[in-house]
Amino acid sequence: MTSDRDDKDRARRLEAENARLQNDVSQLSAELSRIQREQVEYLQNVSHQLVAPLNAIKWHIENLTSNRIGIERARKVMRSIYSQSTIAVHLAKNFALMSNLEEDHALSALKEPLQEISLYVLAVNIADDFQPQGWDREINISVAGHGFEDGPAVLVMKPLMSQVFSNIVENAVKYSRSNTTIRISGSFDIPNDQARIVFSNQGMALSSADSTTVFERGFRSTEARSKYPAGTGFGLYIARRIVELHEGSITARPITGGAEFEVHLPIVGLKGKARYRDSKNRPTSR
Ligand SMILES: Nc1ncnc2c1ncn2[C@@H]1O[C@H](COP(=O)(O)OP(=O)(O)O)[C@@H](O)[C@H]1O
Ligand SMILES: [Mg+2]
Repeated sequence: MTSDRDDKDRARRLEAENARLQNDVSQLSAELSRIQREQVEYLQNVSHQLVAPLNAIKWHIENLTSNRIGIERARKVMRSIYSQSTIAVHLAKNFALMSNLEEDHALSALKEPLQEISLYVLAVNIADDFQPQGWDREINISVAGHGFEDGPAVLVMKPLMSQVFSNIVENAVKYSRSNTTIRISGSFDIPNDQARIVFSNQGMALSSADSTTVFERGFRSTEARSKYPAGTGFGLYIARRIVELHEGSITARPITGGAEFEVHLPIVGLKGKARYRDSKNRPTSR
């Protein structure tokens, strides 16, 4: 009698367990389809974004080789080719970084060595790279030397920090209105081991409600979407992840008719940290 009841109880338990497992399986397969759909959309987005500057370059070259244009016009076309190539390279680097930054455990796979660099020189180089995109709309990129130029070298993973600066500057150019100046400045608090870089621009106003959400993956404000349909919403997410990887912080705040972004980084704080490879101290094997 007792064992009969035990058997029934066991069967009921197994049935309940079975139902729960089936439910788990269907939830997981729904999740898998969602991820697969997202991946397809992501790849479509990536190729769509990359095709635009490449097509522009192709079109410009066709124009140049047609032999019908004068030297002044040719110069302008060459400048556009330069800008569009900068955009294509910039996008391709972001897409490569996206796949690396997606998972926390992948952060250790970013085996870039730490290098002592001048953040001022980095800012000037990025400004030079993006300046041609501002020419048509009389947008000027200005890097203030005072307090920045003579600052101490900062220990960073250079290609990654370069992407942080270019993601911020690319936005600044894109979202600035004509006849304005994008300003980049820097200062150092050596006793507290802090470097501070500020980027400001005038144009599309950043709302205070958006000043934290702009760093979320895929976020684009309604105004950004309607005025500049091409965009991924990945730029500032990537910037934040990279800055945090450097144990720094990045913030955005509205200024009258524009936006200001501030990056804080430790100057030498990453020295000797096990997670990072020192360029002078690279392992010889493996
Ligand atoms: N300089 C800026 N001025 C005003 N809004 C900005 C600026 N930079 C970024 N934003 C806002 O942050 C959003 C996210 O930026 P980002 O991650 O670079 O994506 P994307 O440039 O593809 O839109 C933008 O869509 C925009 O709403
Ligand atoms: Mg952007």
